[in-house]
Amino acid sequence: MRSEEQKIVYLQDYKPSDYLIPKTEMWVDFSPERTQITTDLHIERRAGVEAGTPLELDGEQVELVSIAIGDDVLGAGQYELSENGLKLLDPPQSFVLSTVVEVAPEKNKSLEGLYRSSGNWCTQCEAEGFRRITYFIDRPDVMSVFTVKMVADKDLAPVLLSNGNPMDKGEMSNNRHFALWHDPHPKPCYLFAMVAGKLDKISEKFTTKSGKNVDLNIYAEPGKAELCRYAMDALVRSMKWDEERFGCEYDLDVFNIVAVSDFNAGAMENKGLNIFNDKYVLADPATATDQDYALIERIIAHEYFHNYTGNRVTCRDWFQLCLKEGLTVFRDQEFSSDERFRDVERIDDVKGLRQSQFVEDSGPLAHPPRPSQYEQIDNFYTSTVYEKGAEVVRMLMTLLGKQTFHEGVDLYLDRHDGEAATIEQFIKCFEDVSGRDLSQFQKWYTQAGRPRVSYSTSYAAEQKLFTLVLKQEVPPTPGDDEKSPLVLPIRFGLVSNNGEDLTWEHAEGAEVQDDLIVTNEDEVTVTFHGVSSAPVVSLFRGFSAPVTLDTKASLEEDLHRARLDSDPFNRWESLQSAIMNIVAPAMDVDGPELDIELLEPVAVALSQTLDSQNLSPAFKALCLKLPTYQDYTQRLGQNIDPDRIKTVRQKVSEVVADKLRGQLVTLYSTLHLPDDYQPNAEQSGMRDLRNQALSLLATLKEGQLFELVERHYREARNMTDRQAALAIMCANAPDRAVELLDDFKRNYTEAMTVYDKWLGLNASIDDAQTIDRIKRLMDDDRFSLETPNRVYALFGAFTQGNPTQFARADGAGFELIADVILQIDQFNPQVAGRFAVAFRIWKNYESKRREAARAALERIKQSEKISPNLSEMVNKTLG
Ligand code: PHE
Ligand code: ZN
Repeated sequence: MRSEEQKIVYLQDYKPSDYLIPKTEMWVDFSPERTQITTDLHIERRAGVEAGTPLELDGEQVELVSIAIGDDVLGAGQYELSENGLKLLDPPQSFVLSTVVEVAPEKNKSLEGLYRSSGNWCTQCEAEGFRRITYFIDRPDVMSVFTVKMVADKDLAPVLLSNGNPMDKGEMSNNRHFALWHDPHPKPCYLFAMVAGKLDKISEKFTTKSGKNVDLNIYAEPGKAELCRYAMDALVRSMKWDEERFGCEYDLDVFNIVAVSDFNAGAMENKGLNIFNDKYVLADPATATDQDYALIERIIAHEYFHNYTGNRVTCRDWFQLCLKEGLTVFRDQEFSSDERFRDVERIDDVKGLRQSQFVEDSGPLAHPPRPSQYEQIDNFYTSTVYEKGAEVVRMLMTLLGKQTFHEGVDLYLDRHDGEAATIEQFIKCFEDVSGRDLSQFQKWYTQAGRPRVSYSTSYAAEQKLFTLVLKQEVPPTPGDDEKSPLVLPIRFGLVSNNGEDLTWEHAEGAEVQDDLIVTNEDEVTVTFHGVSSAPVVSLFRGFSAPVTLDTKASLEEDLHRARLDSDPFNRWESLQSAIMNIVAPAMDVDGPELDIELLEPVAVALSQTLDSQNLSPAFKALCLKLPTYQDYTQRLGQNIDPDRIKTVRQKVSEVVADKLRGQLVTLYSTLHLPDDYQPNAEQSGMRDLRNQALSLLATLKEGQLFELVERHYREARNMTDRQAALAIMCANAPDRAVELLDDFKRNYTEAMTVYDKWLGLNASIDDAQTIDRIKRLMDDDRFSLETPNRVYALFGAFTQGNPTQFARADGAGFELIADVILQIDQFNPQVAGRFAVAFRIWKNYESKRREAARAALERIKQSEKISPNLSEMVNKTLG
C-alpha cells in the first residue's frame, strides 16, 4: 500500500484486458476471526492475444491458501505472488482457476473490501476494493456473471445477501446456514457486494410497467427498520419515475438496500444490493431535518438510477467515471425537480456547484470531468466529475432539446447495454440522433476550468436594433495553459420595462433559436432586429452553462432582473449579484469601507420579493440567504482574509435585517404550518422561510431576539426547527449556544445521526475556544476517528462551516486538521485523501495564512509513511 514511487495511470495507455472472466463462482465462509473465500474463475484468453501471455490478477491484503487449475494444484514456479497480486506465467487458453484465500475483516478499518460495521459484515468494492476480497482482474471492463454461496453462523448472521436473485438457502450442521445468490447480468467486480449479519428490514412490492413483480427490502441495524419508511417511499417513486421519464424498468426479482453505520462515501450502487451510509436512509421527524429528507430522496434515487447508467452500461476504465456519475447526478437532479419545485432545486444545485466545483476548478486540484491521468482513482470522486459532469449532460439537453436528448439516451442505453463504454461513445449517440457535430462540445469533458463570459449591449431605437457582444475566455489551469473556447448554450430573454420578454423579427451573428443562443467563438456579436424597446438582457437563464458571467451590470440592470425577470433563476441570481457587486470591494484587504447607503435599493428589492403573492415561500427563503462566505472568496480570488469577510458579511446582514425588521418579524410570527409534519417541498419551503427570517433577524444580536430563538428551540416540534434554532444561536451568540447545546445533547442525541448534528453545531461556533472545544469533542466517548460520519460531522463542519477558525492567522486550525488527516491516514487513506481538499484554497489566503497553510501541508508531506492517496492530494495541492 505504501510505496515510495507514485505510479501515474494514463488514459492513452488503455488496452483491453488480455484475459476475460465470463463466469465467477464464489463460496464465502464467514467466521469471526477470518473469512475464507473460495473462488472459481472461468477464464478465457481474449481472441487475438498470443499464447504464453501471462495473466495478472489483482489481489491485496488477501492471504492465498491454495491455487489450482482444474484439479491441478499449482506449485511455486507456476505463479508469482506479490503485494499487489498474482501472476500466472503461462496460462492455458481457457480454464478454471480455483483459489482459496483468507481475509481479516475485523481488522479492516479502511472500509474497503470486506469489513465489519457494528458487528455486521459488508463490502465496498468501488473503485478497487474487490481485490481485497479475492484475486481477480479488477477493472471495470472485465465483466462476469457472479454466483455466490454465503455460509455463516445462524445467530451471528441470520441475514445473508449478495447481488442478483436469491436461488436457494438452507440449514447446515453446527448451527450454520447458507444462501445462494445468482446475478444473471454480467458486471464488473466493483459492483459486487455481500452483507451478512443481524439486520431488521421493511419490505414493499413493486410492479414494473411490464407487470413484473419485484420485492423491495431495506435492511438496517436491529431496531432501526421503521426509520427506513421514507427511504422506501423514495425508492418506489424513483422506480416509477425512471420508467416514465427514461423508460428504464427494473431487471431483477429483488432490490435490496442495506444501511450501515460505517461507510466512506454516501452510498453504493452494487447490482440489486445497494449499500448505504445509514445517514442517507434513516429518518423520522424527530431526528431528521427537511434537508436530510431531501438528501435521502436524492441519494436513494441516485443509486437506483445507476442500475442503468452505471450498471447495465458501465465504464470502460476509471477515466470514464463521469460517464456514469455525471449522467446519474443529472438524472437525480431531474428527479428532484420533477418531485419538488424545479426552480428551487435548480438554484440549490447551482449553489452547490459553485460552492464546491467552482472552488476546485479555480485551485491546484482543477481537472476536467474526464481526466487523462491519475495516481489514485479514489481521489477523483470529485465535484468536477459528479456535479460538473451533470452540468455537461444538462447542456446536451439544452442544446438538442428534451426530446432529441432522450432519444440519445435511449440509443446509448440500447446500443451499449451490457457493455463498458466511453465518453466518446456516449457523445456519438447524441450525434447520431441529432445529426449535430459535437466534437467541439466534447471539450467540456476534457478541458479543465470554466469560461469567463463577459458581454455588452446597445440599443438603437430608430432601427429597433438590439446588439449583444459576447466574449468568452478560458483561464489557464495548473499544467494546462492552452484552452479552447467552448460551445455555450445560452438561454436568454430580452426583458422589457414591465418584465415581459420582448420578441424580435430575426437575429444574426450566431445560432439563435427561440430562447437559445449557441456560440463557440471567443467573441461574437449578435444583432436582433425588430426589438420594440430597449431591453435588459437576461443571459444564461436557468444557469444554462457552467460559466462565470462577469457582471459589470449596473445596479439598475440587476435590480430590474431581480424584480421582473420571468426566469426565476436569474431573478435570484441578479439579487445575489447586486449584493455582491456592492459588498465585495469592501472585503478586499486594501478595499474601501462598506457604503451602507448602497444597500438600500437591494433591501427594497428583497422586501418586494418577500411581499410577492406569486413567489413560493421556498423561493423567498433562497432570496433571504445572502451570499455565502464561499461566494465572496470566489469573487475575491486572492488575498483572502476570512475575518474581514466575516465582519463585512455581518454588517450587511445587520443592515438588511434592520431595514426588513418589521416584515421579518411578521413573517416569523404569522407563517403557520400544518400540525402534521410532512417533509415535502411545500412544507419544507415554509419552514425554511420562517427559519431564514429568524436567522436574518438574529444577526441584529439583540437580547429579545435571542429569547425568540431560544423559544424557537424549546417549542420546536421537529428537528428542522430545532436544529435551525441552534445553528442561529451558534452563529450569533456563542455563550448562549453552548448552554443550548448541552440541553440538546442531554435530550436529543441518542440517535447517532443527531449526535453528529451536535458535533457539527459545536464545531461551527466561532470564538476563542473553538480549537479547544473541538479537541475536547474528540475525547467524547461516542466520538471515533474510525467512523467517517463522526469525522465528516465534526471536521467537515469546522473546515467548511467555520472558515475564520479553520483559517486562523496563527495556523492552529490548519495544524489541527493536518494532525487529524495524518491520524486517519494510518487506517483509512480514502477518507484522509478526500479530507485534504480542505486545503485546496490555501494559495488564495493573504500571506500570513498562506504561509501557515503551507507549513501544515509541508508537515503532512514530510511525514513518514503517508498513503499514496494522501500523497497525491498533498503534492498536487502544494503544486
Ligand atoms: N458510486 C458511488 C455513487 O455515487 C459513490 C462511491 C464511490 C461509493 C466510491 C463508494 C466508493 O453513487
Ligand atoms: Zn453515483
